[in-house]
Amino acid sequence: MNNIFKKVEDILSQAGIEEYKAEAKYIILNASNQTLEDIILSNSIQNEEKILKIAQKRAATKAPIQHILGYSIFMDDKYITDKNVLIPRDETQILIEQSIGLIKEKDNINILEIGVGSAIISTQIAKYLKNNNKTFEILAVDISLEALKIALQNILNLDLEKKVLVRKSDIYSKIRPFEKFDLIVSNPPYIPYNEKNNLDDIVKNYDPEIALFAANNGLEFYEKIISDAPKYLKKSGFIAFELGINQSKRVQKLLEKDFKDIKITADLAGIERTITAKLI
Ligand SMILES: C[S@@+](CC[C@H](N)C(=O)[O-])C[C@H]1O[C@@H](n2cnc3c(N)ncnc32)[C@H](O)[C@@H]1O
Repeated sequence: MNNIFKKVEDILSQAGIEEYKAEAKYIILNASNQTLEDIILSNSIQNEEKILKIAQKRAATKAPIQHILGYSIFMDDKYITDKNVLIPRDETQILIEQSIGLIKEKDNINILEIGVGSAIISTQIAKYLKNNNKTFEILAVDISLEALKIALQNILNLDLEKKVLVRKSDIYSKIRPFEKFDLIVSNPPYIPYNEKNNLDDIVKNYDPEIALFAANNGLEFYEKIISDAPKYLKKSGFIAFELGINQSKRVQKLLEKDFKDIKITADLAGIERTITAKLI
C-alpha cells in the first residue's frame, strides 16, 4: 500500500514537480475515492491503475491536476474545472467569508456577482445563506458563455439553481435599471498585461486569459465596477472585491468617493487580499 504513495511521488518528482508529496496524496485520495483514514484502516487502495495513469499524465503534460481530474475541491465541494474557468484559489475563501459577514444579518438579500467563473463565490455564499434559512437570490454574471456553462453545471451539482441565477453580461451591460442589490461581489481579472511574462507557466498556459488580465495597470474592472455600483446598490449596500498584490491603496482611492467603512483584509501570507465598503 505504501508502495503506491512512493510510486506516485517518484513519477511526479522525476518530472520536476515541486510539491510532489502533496500532489501525490491529492491524486491518490481523489482517484481512489477514499479518505486517508479509509486507506489506513483498510490497508488497501482502490483504483491503483487509475492513480498511476493520472500521475503519468500530470508528469508528461504538466497540465494542472484540476484539469486532468476535471474538477477542483474548494471548501470541501467539488467544482467542475476546465480551460474555460479560473482554477479556484484557496485565498478566495477570504472574499466569501468577508461577503457573508457583510450581509448575514439582513433578510430578503439580493447579491450580484460579477465574473462568476466556476461559481465558487456565489455557490458558497448561497450555501451559507440557505443553511441559515435566509430568503435570498444571487445573480451571477460573466462575459464568457463557456464559463457560464461550467458555472451552471456547478450550481446544479450543488442543488442551488433556484438560488443562483446566471446571465451573460459584460459587467453591468445586462443588468436592468430596476435590479438592485445588497451586495456586489467580484474577484475580477486584475493582473496588469505587462506582468504576463512573469506568471507561472501553469497560470499562463491553463487559466483563461479573459479571467486574468485587466487594462489600466490591473485596475480596469475595479474602476468600471465601482463607478456604476451606486446605480445598482440598495441603500447602504455593500461592495466586496478580491485584490491583486499591491492594489489595495489604489482601489481604496477609487472607493472613497461613494463608499465608507472601507475594510482591507490580508491573507495568511500577509497579502492584502480583499477590500469591502458600504455605500454612503
Ligand atoms: C478572476 S476570474 C474569477 C472567477 C471566479 N469568480 C473565482 O473567483 O474563481 C474573473 C472572471 O471574470 C470574467 N470576466 C472577464 N471580463 C468580464 C466582463 N467584462 N464582464 C463580466 N465578466 C467578465 C471572466 O470570464 C472570469 O470568469
